[in-house]
Amino acid sequence: MISIVGKYSFKSLAQFFSSPDVPVETRLTGGLDLFPGNTEMGFILSPRNNFFENREIDQKVFSSIDYDLIDRALQKYGTFSIIEFDLRCYFIFSNLDESSSGKNLTSLGLQSICSFLETEFGPGEYFHFQSVGLVFDESMNMLDSINAFILSKGKLRNKVMESAKFLPIQDESIPEEILTAGPSISPLEVTYVSQAVKQGWNANHSEYLHKFEKEFANFVGSEFAMATSSCTGALHLSLLALGIGRGDEVIVPDITWVATASAVRYVGATPKFVDVDPKTWTMDPNGLEDIISVNTKAIIPVHLYGYGAPMLEILQIAKKYGISVIEDAAPAIGTVIEGKLAGSFGDFGCFSFQGAKLLVTGEGGMLVTNDADLFAKAKKIQDHGRKPGTFWIEELGYKYKMNNTTAALGLAQLQRAEMQIVKKREINSWYLEGLADLEGLHFQTEAPGTESICWMTSFTIGKDAKVDRDELMRELKTLGIDTRPVFPSISQYEIWGYSPTIPKFSKGIGDTGINLPSGVRINKSSVKKVIDSIHKILG
Ligand SMILES: Cc1ncc(COP(=O)(O)O)c(C=O)c1O
Repeated sequence: MISIVGKYSFKSLAQFFSSPDVPVETRLTGGLDLFPGNTEMGFILSPRNNFFENREIDQKVFSSIDYDLIDRALQKYGTFSIIEFDLRCYFIFSNLDESSSGKNLTSLGLQSICSFLETEFGPGEYFHFQSVGLVFDESMNMLDSINAFILSKGKLRNKVMESAKFLPIQDESIPEEILTAGPSISPLEVTYVSQAVKQGWNANHSEYLHKFEKEFANFVGSEFAMATSSCTGALHLSLLALGIGRGDEVIVPDITWVATASAVRYVGATPKFVDVDPKTWTMDPNGLEDIISVNTKAIIPVHLYGYGAPMLEILQIAKKYGISVIEDAAPAIGTVIEGKLAGSFGDFGCFSFQGAKLLVTGEGGMLVTNDADLFAKAKKIQDHGRKPGTFWIEELGYKYKMNNTTAALGLAQLQRAEMQIVKKREINSWYLEGLADLEGLHFQTEAPGTESICWMTSFTIGKDAKVDRDELMRELKTLGIDTRPVFPSISQYEIWGYSPTIPKFSKGIGDTGINLPSGVRINKSSVKKVIDSIHKILG
């Protein structure tokens, strides 16, 4: 995030929005939003719609604004994000701390706008309106950013979300060690979690949990969502709810985290491994029919590293053979496939909030489905098989629940998903651009009709490269750059008790693939350091 002042002062911003060139119905109005229950303060500009038109407050507010004071405050504390608030567009400047400028801003008398909003929407409610957003940073000029924002509106994933928040992602300065992952935790997460810790008990014990599940279902576009203790748990519950067990076979892609296949083993079924596509690294539907047998009960495509699997082809084959589909969307929250989101295609979709994922809760997961019966089954098994509302146990169940405090963290993360996805895709584009000239690197790519969230930028290294994957990782590590090897071809593990043939592509991808640092807070300078280091080692 940039500090707005210096590049764009508050005054110039005001002028900007008053200009006839601005590509929105523009009329500058302004006000102060005291974030309720938070030490932060923000300043809101409403640049369009006639929200404040013909209202007394309009004039009052403008006559009382001390732009220079606000400029000074923003210079010191300001960060900048854009939100659309109840279908109106605002800018919020946040991170103004109470001890200094905050008090001065309050004393400007701009509090009146806050009262106005409260009268209009009820106390604090203006925090809970449909909103969409975009982060600005140094790489975009302001007009481009606004245009991109408007253009992107048609594509935004959280159109139906009730309360997206656009607190900024804080970039890191170049850290001593550049890590592969790492979440963005803003004051919103801290506020929700502390509210949950203080008040989320007794009658409120599931308040955040229910909100998180409801907003997650809306986000993905599924009917039902159930928070779980992990994605592995969600996969296990899905298989149990589908009645899959001993003697059954379930097809999984040969490159994935072992959890996908382990869950199959948990229910006593046998995982069967199918090769992946050499470009997208996701399940190759062409290999499916060869391994489908009378015992095959389900297929679990994986949206590996956020790249969408070819769901339409997979569903078609599953339908032909009467087989269920469970999507392992652990690292793919927000991935778009043919206009829908990953996880919303199959009988079940399973997601992860483990600490390295796009959205984190430490550990955690989510199971989604559109099938009311399957949902009821999974819910019962997740709650020790008890008859709902009683202590009477009707079947052997498990305990894979998420708690309310964890859900508070998840909810805040979800409400900031859109901007994190924008940033992830941007990080990926920096790598693609910076490494384009190096021969022999083959990046994981999006299948046509899909839009990855680029959870981790990854490539394989060709045989003719100066060093192999493991040596590249070692040398990067000495330069303070952490990387990960791509998952191996999991069919080669001895734990399955049989030796499948070596697949054509997955083995090579697993042996030569590398994940680059892609945490959402990474900045352009850190990515440049990674790019320059790779050039030095491989160039
Ligand atoms: C593809 C895939 N499936 C499943 C999982 C398991 O998720 P969790 O750690 O939440 O159980 C992961 C986690 O890394 C994953 O990458």
